[in-house]
Amino acid sequence: MPQLIVVTRDGTEHVIEGETGLSVMEVIRDAGFDELLALCGGCCSCATCHVQVDEAFAGALPAISVDEDDLLDSSSHRAATSRLSCQLPFGPALDGLKVRIAPED
Ligand code: FES
Repeated sequence: MPQLIVVTRDGTEHVIEGETGLSVMEVIRDAGFDELLALCGGCCSCATCHVQVDEAFAGALPAISVDEDDLLDSSSHRAATSRLSCQLPFGPALDGLKVRIAPED
């Protein structure tokens, strides 16, 4: 299975495996990281699945939608590489992707 590297808020890197077809949010949530609240369950309406993504994978990610862009604007921790992880389908194209869980708003 493709691997995802999750950096938690204390800076620790965790390598986990993710099922193709899940979102990056679901992969992180299913691995038991409770820092990623994902309160809306992936409906793109809460922004509590905010991650900062490794720039090397920017070209492999789907384009950001207007809704996702608006929600990210509500975060005071938005960075150039910020995404909502529920909007990122996981799979072999993202094998080795590193995502940092954004600070809590
Ligand atoms: S889980 Fe709510 S916006 Fe991603």
